[in-house]
Amino acid sequence: MEIDPKNQQKFYNILKAVIIPRPIAFISSKSPAGEVNLAPFSFFNGVCYDPPTISVSIARFSGAKEKDSLLNIEQTGEFVVNMVNRDIAEAMNLTALDYPKDVNEFTVAGLTEAACERISPPRVLESPVSLECRLKQVVEINKGSPKECGLVIAEVVYCHIADQLFDGRYVDMKALDLIGRLGGHSYCHVDSLFDMKLGSITKDK
Ligand SMILES: Cc1cc2nc3c(=O)[nH]c(=O)nc-3n(C[C@H](O)[C@H](O)[C@H](O)COP(=O)(O)O)c2cc1C
Repeated sequence: MEIDPKNQQKFYNILKAVIIPRPIAFISSKSPAGEVNLAPFSFFNGVCYDPPTISVSIARFSGAKEKDSLLNIEQTGEFVVNMVNRDIAEAMNLTALDYPKDVNEFTVAGLTEAACERISPPRVLESPVSLECRLKQVVEINKGSPKECGLVIAEVVYCHIADQLFDGRYVDMKALDLIGRLGGHSYCHVDSLFDMKLGSITKDK
C-alpha cells in the first residue's frame, strides 16, 4: 500500500506506530513562580555528542492552553530528563493527564523530588538516570498550525545515574530496565538485548 500523509486521516497514528521504540523523556520543570511540573514526552532523542545535546518535541497546545512543560522550559531555560524504567512506568502514565498548572504531578504519581546539582527544578529520585538540561533553543515546527510544536534543543549539564548501573566506563543497559513508547497505548520493555560488532555478521550471545 502507498500512503500520501495528506490523504490519510490521522497519519500521526501510523507515524507513532512505525517510529518505534521511542525513549521517554520524563520531564521535571519549574515555573518562575516555583510550581513544579512533571510530564512524559516520547518525541525525544540525543542529537549531538559533545557537548551532549538532546531534543524533545512538545506540542504547543493541549486543548486550549499551552503545555506547562514547554512554558516552564521557555521561561526558565532549565529542566530535567528523567529516564523511565519498568518500576515507575505506571507513575509516569499518571502524570500525562492534563492537570491544572498548580498541581504538582510528583504528588499525583507518588514520586519523590530530589535536588539537582546545577539547575533549580527537582529530579525524580526513583528514576535510574536523570539528565539536568539547559535550553539552547526552541525550533518552531509548523508555526501557526493548530498542531504547532516546539522542538526543544538542550545541553545536558549534569547526569545522575544509580551507582549499581555504572562501573565508571559502561552503563549496565539490561539492569537499567527502561521502557519505550510504541503506537496506541503500547509500550515495550528493554529486556532482550543482542550485540553485533560493527561491520560483523556474527551475533554475540
Ligand atoms: C508516554 C507518553 C509520551 C508522550 N509524548 C509526548 C510528546 O512527545 N509530545 C507531546 O507534546 N506530548 C506527549 N505526551 C503527552 C503529554 O505528556 C501530555 O500532554 C501532558 O499532559 C503534558 O503535561 P504538561 O502540560 O504538564 O506539560 C506523551 C504522553 C505519554 C503518556
